[in-house]
Amino acid sequence: MGTKTVSECRSAFKNFFLKNSHQIVDSSPLVPQNDPTLMFTNSGMVQFKNVFTGLEKVPFKRATTSQKCVRAGGKHNDLENVGYTPRHHTFFEMLGNFSFGDYFKETAIKFAWELITKDYGISKEKLTVTVFHEDDEAFNFWKKISGLHDSRIIRIKTNDNFWSMGDTGPCGPCSEIFYDHGDHLKGGPPGSIDQDGNRFVEIWNLVFMQFEQISKDRRVNLPKPSVDTGMGLERIAAVLQGTHDNYQIDLFKNIIKSAENFINKKVSDKNISSYRVIADHLRATAFLIADGVLPSNEGRGYVLRRIMRRAMRHAFTLGSDLPVLYKILPTLISEMSSEYSELKRADSLITENLKLEEERFSIMLKNGMKILNTEINKVTNNKLSGDIAFKLYDTYGFPLDLTQDFLKDKKISVDEIKFNCLMAESKKIARASWKGSGSDQTSKIWFELKEKYGPTEFLGYNSENSQGVILSIVSHDKEIESSSKNSELALILNQTPFYGESGGQVGDKGIISNKNFIFEVIDTKKMFGDFYIHFGKLISGEIKKGDNVNLKIDSLKRQNIRAYHSATHLLHESLRRTLGKHVVQKGSYVGPDRLRFDFSHNKPISDDEMININNCVNKIIEQKSDVQTRLMTPKAAVAEGALALFGEKYGEEVRVLTMGTDGNKVFSIELCGGTHVKNTKEIGKFLVVSQSAVAAGVRRVEALRDQQLAEYLKNKENEQDEFNKNKLDQVNELEIKIKGLGGNIKEVKEENILTRISILKKILEDLEVKNILLDKSKNIIKDIHHYKISIRFQKIFNYPVKRIQNLIEDQKKQLNKKIIILYSINNEKITVAVGITNDLVNEYDASKIAKEIGLILGSKGGGGRKDFAQASGGSDISKIESSFEEILKKIN
Ligand code: ALA
Repeated sequence: MGTKTVSECRSAFKNFFLKNSHQIVDSSPLVPQNDPTLMFTNSGMVQFKNVFTGLEKVPFKRATTSQKCVRAGGKHNDLENVGYTPRHHTFFEMLGNFSFGDYFKETAIKFAWELITKDYGISKEKLTVTVFHEDDEAFNFWKKISGLHDSRIIRIKTNDNFWSMGDTGPCGPCSEIFYDHGDHLKGGPPGSIDQDGNRFVEIWNLVFMQFEQISKDRRVNLPKPSVDTGMGLERIAAVLQGTHDNYQIDLFKNIIKSAENFINKKVSDKNISSYRVIADHLRATAFLIADGVLPSNEGRGYVLRRIMRRAMRHAFTLGSDLPVLYKILPTLISEMSSEYSELKRADSLITENLKLEEERFSIMLKNGMKILNTEINKVTNNKLSGDIAFKLYDTYGFPLDLTQDFLKDKKISVDEIKFNCLMAESKKIARASWKGSGSDQTSKIWFELKEKYGPTEFLGYNSENSQGVILSIVSHDKEIESSSKNSELALILNQTPFYGESGGQVGDKGIISNKNFIFEVIDTKKMFGDFYIHFGKLISGEIKKGDNVNLKIDSLKRQNIRAYHSATHLLHESLRRTLGKHVVQKGSYVGPDRLRFDFSHNKPISDDEMININNCVNKIIEQKSDVQTRLMTPKAAVAEGALALFGEKYGEEVRVLTMGTDGNKVFSIELCGGTHVKNTKEIGKFLVVSQSAVAAGVRRVEALRDQQLAEYLKNKENEQDEFNKNKLDQVNELEIKIKGLGGNIKEVKEENILTRISILKKILEDLEVKNILLDKSKNIIKDIHHYKISIRFQKIFNYPVKRIQNLIEDQKKQLNKKIIILYSINNEKITVAVGITNDLVNEYDASKIAKEIGLILGSKGGGGRKDFAQASGGSDISKIESSFEEILKKIN
């Protein structure tokens, strides 16, 4: 048995199957493209799911892949085990060979046996296999092909030997191959009680795909029996490197060494699980981010965040300062990017996100510790309540085991039952919130029609009108032969100039017609990359399957869309040049009316940056540069530096768009299937008109161009003019009033119109107040001697309520042994204010007096201090004098 590196194990596998007429297919992204029920791609067969069920056709019957997988959510979830066993991972690579209705059990077993024993050179003595207990066929083939003794072909009754992708989807009985790592390790053969030990390890699973699970209670046969196999690359590499510990293989050794270096603590038996967690979770994090998942509080992003936090908490337990994980990333990238170039492309995005999450987490950790320390003092019965533990977990990201770790020393445990209840509830919420957020649900009818009619030829890059044949008319998810009703229909044609919505660009509208009918296309969608569906309404006449028709798109709309799409490319590149290479497109809308662009970036764009971005785009527009389109393989395009969308799987051939120049290099190069201008001058003047945040780490900008921009700016100018005009009228009015009261405005130099208005208002109010105080009919004052003191009765009209207290305080300063009772009448409401000079405060209480008068006048509540109080809300002006008389009687 020869020693093989991870990369040699991978290529040996693929080459073996290539030699045996299998097509090598690239790994699909970790976010499934064809299944809204699955959180992550969890095995090699996911990308072929619809091929197994017969919904989708591929031009080969045999395939082989090395597939990126994540098992950290949903049916297959290994997250909690990772670290504590030598062979569990969240992210791993699955090597597989597939037969789509071609070979079945016998050949699958033959291939497996040959590869394992010849190419990998593993001795027969080390191998044991299992079959599903009813599967005599598989048992007999194994016997015939491998010559293994009956006792080493074990029949298993449990679900371990019946594999399914998820709650629904293709499934079937399976046969697993186990490697015996030797009797120095604990563990028994499969099927025995101690089968979970480290000695016998499953290395390869051959699934004989025969069924499709439609729902919980319904399972149907697949059109043709097929094969799906999965071999854990890390496990086979461990076997071939003479270890039972996946984390001892070359790839992980290097990552762990780098972690050891940055964390600055030697790996030991005691802390190895933490190092395993860090190495594994860093891989999952990097690959998920590269495929477009960003940490968040829901769905996939939530699982990613948990993975990241688990790694951070282990780094923290090892005594490291955070952030540290991002420092280990370069080792991972150098180990894996030759097979997965997306890691290199997403390098800065992964680094940014790691750092940011680590910084956030370290703050949470500090806050959490503070809370924990306070709660420890309140603990009774040596038990911390489940609510607190959950709050620490949920709000501060403080995992339960971390809480338990910290409490261990103090001999305090956690109420786990309560904690688990709360946890289960929150998981339920996470599941519910992610459902439906996956790729589009692909309705069955479109699969069938695509199968029946094949791809639609798109003519819209070069023409806006064409002829075509109606291949299918669909009404309410059913194919019909003809229609003459004014109904909503979907049409499939052999060819079309209508662009189907994709890559952010909206679908075309237009007219499909012949001499018998007119059909208005309201929207066009694209499915499976090349299947166009025209949605719309029959306006008049009768439409029939097989009709020859004229197709005409709405040209003006398309012209605008083209310009906005090209502008989007220029904007994307300008953002990257201004803000940094971490800027990656997260979504876009390219319509005839504007463009919207979402991208990864953690802070608002500053004014200077914005100017730069707009200038950068406008410079290329002014270059009047021809837009070049080339067709090439995705690999060649990426090698030329084309920006590809993460998490997209591209076909054999991609369109590469270049525009503008920068020195002797092109300015923007991007993979894109959209429609574009011929020359950048067609875009016209460009401006970003708004920016906002759409999610953590994702920002949105909206931009306008040409005519629409001019209109927008004109409207804005008009709004500003209108605003200024209103304000000027207000200034005039104020100035006239001030002059009328004999005031002086010459001193007011302020130019800002809003400040000027507020200064003028203040001047006017001062003048008005002064006039009121001087006017004996508006300010009536009577002083009455009462025993040894004097009581002032004051009635004032139209005096600003907010100034009443000052009015009282001013008088108090000038008077002795005086109680001032002031009735202010403003808008038919009475406010009573009572002031008592300092030399009387020990004898009288203003708040009592105010309250009593208030009661008489019918005001609601009131109050204040002993030297000043007020009550307001009364409105019976006729009672003012009598209330004063009454209170006089009570003051003595
Ligand atoms: N799909 C099978 C598995 O994941 C091969 O084990």
